[in-house]
Amino acid sequence: MSKIAFLGAGNMAAAMVDGLLNKGPLKPADLICLSGSQQTATALANRTGIRLAGSLESLMLEADTLVVAFKPQHLAAADPRLALLTQGRLVVSVLAGKKLASLERVFPQARNLVRTMPNTPGQIGAGITGWSAKANLQVADRAILDLLLGALGLSVEVAEPDLDAVTGVSGSGPAYVFEFAAALRDAGVAAGLSHATAEKLAVETLLGAGRLLARKQIDPEVLRNQVTSPNGTTFAGLQRLAAGDFRGLIRETVLAATARSRELSRDS
Ligand SMILES: NC(=O)c1ccc[n+]([C@@H]2O[C@H](COP(=O)([O-])OP(=O)(O)OC[C@H]3O[C@@H](n4cnc5c(N)ncnc54)[C@H](OP(=O)(O)O)[C@@H]3O)[C@@H](O)[C@H]2O)c1
Repeated sequence: MSKIAFLGAGNMAAAMVDGLLNKGPLKPADLICLSGSQQTATALANRTGIRLAGSLESLMLEADTLVVAFKPQHLAAADPRLALLTQGRLVVSVLAGKKLASLERVFPQARNLVRTMPNTPGQIGAGITGWSAKANLQVADRAILDLLLGALGLSVEVAEPDLDAVTGVSGSGPAYVFEFAAALRDAGVAAGLSHATAEKLAVETLLGAGRLLARKQIDPEVLRNQVTSPNGTTFAGLQRLAAGDFRGLIRETVLAATARSRELSRDS
């Protein structure tokens, strides 16, 4: 199996490295990292046993794939030596909002480029990542990508312009869910429960409902209807959600995040 280099060794790189090592078949010696101040790279290497590169040259010496995992704002000032050092390599970027065209300016001779949009549950292998490649992926490159993104959870290929909508739904989505959990907790307190009890009920309800949805693999509406008897308690609650145009609010939420993503990535 080819070796994988990480440029940037913060939260996202660490999540990928952890997932890769947990799932196999890659071993710590197959992975190498380098970061800006080397603080995070040293910590990642010490914690996981992967190799620490002392320079860009040594980072890319044996690597067939480069994962670009620094902050999006660092791309503009990326080291020009990267152009030659990534010649013939596969480059996978996790930089939010950075288009394939911008990546191509920094990695013009890469054999292929993949732009990805992961989300935070990837930190525990429960993420979903949208991705788009510059050109059709060769079979071997698809296998490397599946390995990398599989370390974070599931993945879905989309056309590059759709990555803004992916950002609006799954990239920002965990924050909507956290906000919903907080709202459900506060509502429980308003209904007379203690904060601790309401929080436990809200969090476990979200987790349980999510798991049930994943296990059953049927439309959420079907599961909703199964717990809604005419004129019952759930019916009363859902009536109130509909009166407040819950679905319209969620649609506006996702469209606002998608529009902001489009705006932020317009010239990048
Ligand atoms: N976290 C998420 O859930 C998430 C979701 C989607 C996309 N992303 C994307 O993932 C990327 C990384 O995010 P993160 O949360 O992992 O950030 P982070 O924890 O702040 O890590 C940033 C990393 O970049 C390194 N770095 C800084 N300057 C550099 C340079 N000039 N060359 C090489 N490395 C440099 C830092 O190194 P030192 O600290 O050692 O200097 C650090 O290892 C971002 O582009 C973000 O858009 C993250």
